[in-house]
Amino acid sequence: SPQHELVVVANRLPVDSRTLPDGATEWVTSPGGLVTAMESVMRTVESGAWVGWAGSPGEAPDPFDADGMRLYPVRLDQSDVERYYEGYSNATLWPLYHDVIVDPEFHRGWWDSYLSANRRFAAAAAPVAAPGGTIWVHDYQLQLVPRMIRDKRNDVRIGFFNHIPFPPVELFSQLPKRNSILRGLLGADLIGFQRESDTLNFVASVRRLLGYHVDGTTISVPGIGAAPVREVQVETFPISIDSAAVSALTEDPEICERAAELRRELGDPEKVVLGVDRLDYTKGIRHRLKAWGELLDDGSIDPHDIVMIQVATPSRERVEAYRQLRDEVELTVGRINGEHAPIGRPAVSYQHHSFDRREMTALFMAADVVLVTALRDGMNLVAKEYVASRPDLQGVLVLSEFAGAADELRAAVLVNPHDIDELKAAILRSLAMPPEEQEDSMRSLRHQVMENDVQAWAHHFLERLETSQTPDSEDA
Ligand code: G6P
Repeated sequence: SPQHELVVVANRLPVDSRTLPDGATEWVTSPGGLVTAMESVMRTVESGAWVGWAGSPGEAPDPFDADGMRLYPVRLDQSDVERYYEGYSNATLWPLYHDVIVDPEFHRGWWDSYLSANRRFAAAAAPVAAPGGTIWVHDYQLQLVPRMIRDKRNDVRIGFFNHIPFPPVELFSQLPKRNSILRGLLGADLIGFQRESDTLNFVASVRRLLGYHVDGTTISVPGIGAAPVREVQVETFPISIDSAAVSALTEDPEICERAAELRRELGDPEKVVLGVDRLDYTKGIRHRLKAWGELLDDGSIDPHDIVMIQVATPSRERVEAYRQLRDEVELTVGRINGEHAPIGRPAVSYQHHSFDRREMTALFMAADVVLVTALRDGMNLVAKEYVASRPDLQGVLVLSEFAGAADELRAAVLVNPHDIDELKAAILRSLAMPPEEQEDSMRSLRHQVMENDVQAWAHHFLERLETSQTPDSEDA
């Protein structure tokens, strides 16, 4: 098979296959921040490959070319989807790594499936990397893959980046097989995290649970048998977006016209407030709706003047906590609209589907305030997308301090979303913010986002990986 200088391994391919009613296959962009970020990185890479799942159970399609890279689909059968993906990845690791907002579930059968699925990704990735090439593994679904690849290919550089938080050692210690996860990750030459706190949490777990020596950003991993000690680098790399590309879309006359049209469709309100999230309990959608409902109840906002749009992209719909969340959110939106919406216009316009990039940009351009109220979030790229969509320097970003983006976007209106009164006050302050103040804040936010784009992030990561311990060339 062909050999690639850079191989990305992630649970999902950048595109999902969908079977149409007539049996034909359609490819659509996959959900989530990982794909948003990595897709634009890979478009600029020569001889790149992406190994991942095509999004539905059963036989994997043959490898194919898309957007200048080669895609290698990995098969997940129905039982892998239930136990590796919905189970261990999204009902054990996801809640555990996000501060146990819901209770993580531990099932031994899920672990077996996680292990075998990780083996399949490693087996698909190892042979397609060129001699001395680079394999970059992504996210919590594939934490065993770095070590598995290391066992097959000692000539390649292996990077790992975790897109979600890494939990404090007190929480991580709950995980059965926690040491296998740490050893799996330590198969990499470089391990990257979003925030400094994630990096520190990981290092603390390695120290406490494995007893390995850590010196600054270097972990010494004892060799097996006669093999020498390996040095693994651990560092913080806050991910970003293709800022220039997003910003450029705002100059497209069609998108500008669409932004104006959206406001007309909403009945020309004075202010439009927007939330955009995967429908996930980590995003704080309930807290946001609670604050919004109370502001309407106590008459602080008039639904004739102010409309809220909540885009809630369907996600992990077969996992119980996600079903419950959907029911609750839809009940709450229904109640708010029933009590407050004028005839012919919503108080909360609720959109349970995904929008393409152009429509999203129009929404950001039409929004006076964007609410990012995550209870825990690795980074949150919606916050950065909003900023990149406002070269006019207008609009206000309300941002949870529990999102990774809060480390960089200090000029946003920062909130603790658990404090409903604080959240309400932040929303009112944002709605009343004078244009000059919006401009000051947005200018500073844009400075951050436009300078630190995803190309710089990838470059920085790959450069560090390049200078990490030299791989063993004898095995090449
Ligand atoms: C987050 C994760 C990604 C994941 C995405 C969508 O961004 O970090 O790894 O792909 O959510 O979730 P899904 O379960 O649909 O892949």
